Amino acid sequence: MSHFSYQDGVLHAESTPLSRVAEAFGTPTYVYSKSALLQNFAAYADACAGRDALVCYAMKANSNLAILDLLAREGAGFDIVSGGELLRVIAAGGDPGKVIFSGVGKTVAEMRLALEKNILCFNVESIPELHRLNEVAGSMGKRAPVSLRVNPNVDAKTHPYIATGLKANKFGVAFDDALATYRAASALPHLDVVGIDCHIGSQLLDDAPLLEALDKLIELIDTLHAEGIHVHHLDIGGGIGVDYGAEGDKPPVPVGDYLGRLFARIDAWRAERHDGRPIKVIFEPGRSIVADTGVLLTSIEFLKPGEEKSFCIVDAAMNDLMRPTLYGAWMGVQPVAPREGGKVVYDIVGPVCESGDWLARDRALAVAPGDLLAVMTAGAYGMTMASNYNTRGRAAEVIVDGEQMHLVRRRETPEELYALESMLK
Ligand code: LLP
Repeated sequence: MSHFSYQDGVLHAESTPLSRVAEAFGTPTYVYSKSALLQNFAAYADACAGRDALVCYAMKANSNLAILDLLAREGAGFDIVSGGELLRVIAAGGDPGKVIFSGVGKTVAEMRLALEKNILCFNVESIPELHRLNEVAGSMGKRAPVSLRVNPNVDAKTHPYIATGLKANKFGVAFDDALATYRAASALPHLDVVGIDCHIGSQLLDDAPLLEALDKLIELIDTLHAEGIHVHHLDIGGGIGVDYGAEGDKPPVPVGDYLGRLFARIDAWRAERHDGRPIKVIFEPGRSIVADTGVLLTSIEFLKPGEEKSFCIVDAAMNDLMRPTLYGAWMGVQPVAPREGGKVVYDIVGPVCESGDWLARDRALAVAPGDLLAVMTAGAYGMTMASNYNTRGRAAEVIVDGEQMHLVRRRETPEELYALESMLK
């Protein structure tokens, strides 16, 4: 069930009219549904029930403290890609012992911080990174738990900017080099080899590429085992897509179905070839946890009819939501209070001084200045990718819980945007 629906002609988040959110907090504002968030997390948690599994939410998708707190309370771990994200997890009351650290460019300072906080695992992506981590851990008198991010060379069949599991991508250790890299890792004195991981891409509508990647990881675990290198966890990454609602799009595989198929393969393998030895399974979902929990609420400033194109100029812009201009992503747009009357085809654009500043193109709408629009399915990679371009303060964020509204990030003021700057004496 969608948590955003029309009631009495007005689009609601749960039982709260979005017009009420706009009155209280202004626009542009990201509005999230608490129950959608909990439901999405439960789809993973329920499919993992009774198993040795951990869902590490990929917080790059949406890292608001309130979201992290709600997920941490449900037992989530976190997939981080920076020291800043680790500090956010801790600030939100999350458990560093359930944190895995991904990314190709971890700095010495970030490694040190993560070791101090005793995170669960470093997902290491290269041999130089192994050496750096070994040195940092040694200098602290510690051993670093590591997993190697293996690049299984599987085509995730998604947008080139968000496909990560091919040879041409910067991510991970090539499958053919994995054994040698594991040997190198296990020879280093301050590292503990504990796992294997991969992440092949994002917005995958089908689980076939993920299951193909799983098979390759399983094969590698067996090879490593024969060499005396034993991994205790298998991390399959994130990647399950969501329905953005574009015409002709096929719906993504339901999370429960994917996890069911994945666990069935793991069970069969453990029974046949893995001698039933335990293996923890880790997931790193981002988008499938948060995307459909949020909308970007914006108001129409002006309508600008033209010969070739008509423009609907709104107060949200590419700095608030990068996905359309960066990936050519299609995002649904719905009027908060639909009007009767003739529809006009508009490009929905913001006030930023760039032709690339568009949120949606060629949408038939019956609207007037002052009307509210909701850009749908904007809970993932929306606010986290926002910038201050054109000295625009980032949007406010509100979580709706039934009829209650909680401001979980207030709008930035212009003064805050230049507060860190100074002039020459
Ligand atoms: N794990 C790793 C190592 C990742 O790099 C990512 C996403 C995830 C997990 C989570 O993937 P998800 O479950 O969200 O697909 N900004 C782009 C998406 C970039 C994804 C980057 N990595 C977008 O707006 O489509």
